[in-house]
Amino acid sequence: MVQRTHSCGALRETEVGDTVTLAGWVRACRDHGRVVFVDLSDREGVTQVVVDVRTSPEAFAVARELRAESVIAVSGVVRQRPRGTENPALATGSVELTAEEMVVLNPAQALPFPVDDASRVDDALRLRYRYLDLRREALRGNLRLRHRVVKAMRDHLDEASFLEVETPLLTRSTPEGARDYLVPSRVHPGEFYALPQSPQQMKQLLMVAGLDRYFQIARCFRDEDLRADRQPEFTQLDLEMSFADQEAILRMTEALVMAVLRLVQPEREVATPFPRLTYAESLARYGTDKPDLRFDMSILDCTELLGTSGVRIFRRAVAGGGVVKGFRVAGAASMADEDLAVLETVSQGYGAEGVVWLRVIDGVVRAPLAKHLTSREQQRLLDVFGAADDDLLLLVAGELAVVRAALDGLRREMGVRQGLVDPEALAFAWIVDFPLFKRDAEAGHWSAEHHPFTSPAPADVALLETDPGAVRACSYDLVCNGWELGSGSLRIHQPELQARVLQLLGYSADEAEASFGHLMEALGYGAPPHGGIALGIDRLVAILAGTDTIRDVMAFPKTRQAADLVMRAPAPVPQTQLDEVHVRVVLPPQANADTRSGGVKPLDGETREVPGKRRDPQRAL
Ligand code: AMO
Repeated sequence: MVQRTHSCGALRETEVGDTVTLAGWVRACRDHGRVVFVDLSDREGVTQVVVDVRTSPEAFAVARELRAESVIAVSGVVRQRPRGTENPALATGSVELTAEEMVVLNPAQALPFPVDDASRVDDALRLRYRYLDLRREALRGNLRLRHRVVKAMRDHLDEASFLEVETPLLTRSTPEGARDYLVPSRVHPGEFYALPQSPQQMKQLLMVAGLDRYFQIARCFRDEDLRADRQPEFTQLDLEMSFADQEAILRMTEALVMAVLRLVQPEREVATPFPRLTYAESLARYGTDKPDLRFDMSILDCTELLGTSGVRIFRRAVAGGGVVKGFRVAGAASMADEDLAVLETVSQGYGAEGVVWLRVIDGVVRAPLAKHLTSREQQRLLDVFGAADDDLLLLVAGELAVVRAALDGLRREMGVRQGLVDPEALAFAWIVDFPLFKRDAEAGHWSAEHHPFTSPAPADVALLETDPGAVRACSYDLVCNGWELGSGSLRIHQPELQARVLQLLGYSADEAEASFGHLMEALGYGAPPHGGIALGIDRLVAILAGTDTIRDVMAFPKTRQAADLVMRAPAPVPQTQLDEVHVRVVLPPQANADTRSGGVKPLDGETREVPGKRRDPQRAL
């Protein structure tokens, strides 16, 4: 086989006059009659190859027949590009390779889409041919960035005395709140492994084992509804520390994030320590526990001010135990009515009845509802928000949780519309002082806000007996630009306390023993105080790459219906294989007959290639 001497991104003026061999993919061909120009591409870049019929008739004959994305090798001499034809957009743009020999190592079939245009192609088609999609520099760049982020993490943690330990993927159910992916056991009929939703219990057991500082680039599996920031399998930087308090873990994490940034994006300015907000402050000011702090627009409460006003929806909401809250958008009074109608739809998407908007023009409140507010109420409203001319006030009334969610959505929407979202900015913050429990109304008991192993704040332990809802947790989230990037806590390390918390979470003694007996037993054999955190690597890389979906930073992501379109998973398996693992499939009534016959089953709202049928390139992800 022809041995290449350089990558397609390597040649510079220093190589002019050298004889070299390149190998790669034909990204584009331009036939100028007596000369063919070939853009030869590989992971490192693109080099222009010139094939001239007068000097290399054989290579020219090969070049004329080239098909896009065929793999070729070319040997020749590097020369300076003629003046005026340099391409500053390419690292190799000042030189070109004059071909003397050209060999097709493997011709490519007609492509389902041109690689350079892939970003404009239907997502399902791109995911089906992900290996072609990954030939785009944008996606390759993301994978390169991801590699460097993970390397920086490993190096930094190694320096800080952390030990990288792998934990099992075939394990038992872990209570992170999603459904498990189950794996049937052949050896134990009727029993199942669960793929870990996180290595949470394993890392705690490693602390009991005395490993002191652990980390893992850990694959986690959660069967839950997918969104732009969620995949059924994803990767965490999971870490745990013994004898460390909350402060030490937060500082450690900040140092780690800063080390990553220093290596991969030193130009981005981030100050430490990261700001901190309590959970209560974050909900009150931003309506969410993962606020986008690249801009302010904090939410203020107007329940008292407007609950008895002449505006019926405010009165009705407050009479029903609800609230009225809103925020000020500076300089947005001129927003068009059509745009305000869009905001109405946004708020309704969160379950709100709608949004009330008020424009401030010439020192006066102007809005359809203004006539129902007294001039005193209008003035107080302006004072409360510090509103000035040209400002817009957006108010939502209703049940507290709905109002918060709607205002969070509206705030994000207005941040974008007002151009306040600086794509270069990284607004990290810690959210602290979460409650330990939230009320699970359906189940009639408490459920864990973080997970069942999170330690209550020592000062609040007594409240476990009297007012569990008021118990604060030693837990913390790292947020960045409106995403939850990581989450962690100090853990319970006393078996009795763990048993009591499990009891409050609705586990009977037998259930607690069956599900977590191994952990409670271990806590009884000398468990050090410990705590940790897990950062979502996919999310971190997506933020650093400036993309809004984690799919763009994963090699083979799944669709929203959790399908892998490249491997065509999930897929039926032969009955013999099911028999081996003692599984019988009972299909729900609506299941497609194709599934049973072993064919390719269509996915909800998604298209798949079925032999003999034309694809409908609808966008469905
Ligand atoms: P948690 O469940 O909050 O905590 O997860 C930690 C971080 O993992 C990322 N993440 C996800 N990323 C992509 N797709 C998903 N479906 C997904 N789910 C979670 C997020 C999240 O902040 N064991 C605890 C951590 C600990 O207590 O140490 C845990 O897993 O970035």
